[in-house]
Order: sequence, then structure tokens, then C-alpha cells
Amino acid sequence: MQSPARRLPADFDNWTSDLVRDVANVAGYLAPNEMKFLALMAAYPTASGEILEIGSFKGKSTVILAKASALADAATIVNAVDPMTAPCETDPDLEGSASSFEDFQKNIGDHNVESQIQLHQMMSHELAPNWQQPLRLLWIDGDHTYAGTLKDFRGFAPHLVDKGIVAIHDTLHQFEGGARVFLEEVLRNPNFGACGFCGSIAWAQFHRDANDAARHSSVKHMLADKLSRLIPFLTRDDLSFFEKKKYKFYRWLIPHGAVDPQTWIDSID
Ligand SMILES: C[S@@+](CC[C@H](N)C(=O)[O-])C[C@H]1O[C@@H](n2cnc3c(N)ncnc32)[C@H](O)[C@@H]1O
Repeated sequence: MQSPARRLPADFDNWTSDLVRDVANVAGYLAPNEMKFLALMAAYPTASGEILEIGSFKGKSTVILAKASALADAATIVNAVDPMTAPCETDPDLEGSASSFEDFQKNIGDHNVESQIQLHQMMSHELAPNWQQPLRLLWIDGDHTYAGTLKDFRGFAPHLVDKGIVAIHDTLHQFEGGARVFLEEVLRNPNFGACGFCGSIAWAQFHRDANDAARHSSVKHMLADKLSRLIPFLTRDDLSFFEKKKYKFYRWLIPHGAVDPQTWIDSID
């Protein structure tokens, strides 16, 4: 498979600002900096392969992935897996069995991206056993429990191609899943190299050969040390005022501001 051209349009910054405005009417859980970063990962292919999104809700991130990946290659397939019934205990405000399917269809139609999206209306663990497509970007934003996120990571990360990217949402929010999985399965895994945070999105680049990831080990250790301090706070819902402040201080110590596209491009392999 030929590698896609690695280049961003000259006006990418303005393009992402317009994109954030375009999707403002689609309900979702992404901050503007996170939307821009998600667009960057989709628009700048680090390798050949498809994109898989776990947890689509009403399609906000799906539309971003589709529009941004089309900048690189309009034939990129964005796979979206979600039963559309908000089945997870970490999504109580999604109203249990209320379906997001109609809103999802309407939103991807309104943004003219239906032809790029392959919806798998099921649970991610139902899709995983039959999954075969190579992935250049794995975006995990479904079940935020530890067991759920771990199952998603282990079910699909083996399909990451060399230099592919995994990104997990809500790693710096009060959910155990993303933070622990990113710490244990990614930062402590020798096959992941360049890595970081943008808002609550944690990301890392996969290498088939761990030697190719080795130069990033000091950054990984630094982030692992900082992230590990948050973990004890994530399993408890009875944090005192002082403990909440401590959690926020530890989180503040983790670099997670807006990502400059060129700086990110220079940081990956
Ligand atoms: C936080 S929302 C996703 C938001 C979306 N990525 C966005 O940014 O617009 C989480 C979604 O994950 C879905 N979900 C929960 N558990 C899942 C699972 N095991 N497999 C697939 N989707 C799941 C829920 O139905 C819900 O729509």
C-alpha cells in the first residue's frame, strides 16, 4: 500500500477554526482545542490505513474525522462504532436507552460526509473479533470505565499499522478508563513513541519495532510519572475539597494545552 502524502493545506489553521464553527450545532463533548487536534490527526496521515472511532454519539467527532481526513485523501474510510443507545454507566447524562441514531444520520447528512462513513451500529466488543482492516488512527471515546476502555484498546490496537496513532478521550477527566489504559498500555509499552496530551485527549504513535520508539522514552517516563499521580483520585466519588484541589494541581502539571500543528508534525516519526 502506498503511503499517503504527508502535508497539510497552507491555510489549515483557518480551516480548523471554520470546522469548529461548522460543527458547533452538533451536540458532543469536545472542547475547541480538542476538535482542532482531532482534525490534525485525521488530516495528516502518519501511515496508510482506515480510521476507527469508538463512540460516536451524535456524530460531532465523526464529522470532524471525515472532513479532515478528506483533506489528505477523500477515499479514507472513517469507521464509527456505537450502538447509539448510550449503554454505558459512564454516560448517565446520555439518557440510557435514548437513541442518538437519527441525530447521527442527520448530522452526517447535513455535513455531506455520509459517503466517507461506515457506521457499525453495535458495541465495540462485538465488532472487535471480526475486525481486519489496518488502522492509521484509532480514536477511543466509548465506554470510559477501565474494563471498557481496556477491552477497546486490546481489541483494536493490534490493528494499528506501523506509525499509526492511538488517541483516547477523557484521560484528564474524572474517568478511570482512559487515564489508566493510556498509562498502563501505552506509556509503559515500548512500542509506542511520540506521545502527549491536548486537552483531555491522550495520543501516541505506534511502532512495530520498539527500537524506533526508543528515542521518546524520557518523555513517556515523564508523562507516566505525572499521570500516575492522578489514578488514585479516579476511582472515588467522595473526594474532599482539598483532594479535588490536589487532583487539579496534579492535572495542571501535565502539559495538555493547544497543539501547534507544525510542532506536532515535527514531534512524530
Ligand atoms: C462521550 S460519547 C461520544 C462522543 C463523540 N465521540 C463526540 O465527540 O461527539 C460516548 C458514546 O460511546 C458510546 N458507547 C458506550 N459504550 C460503547 C461501546 N462499548 N461500544 C461502542 N460505543 C459505546 C455511547 O453510546 C455514546 O454515544
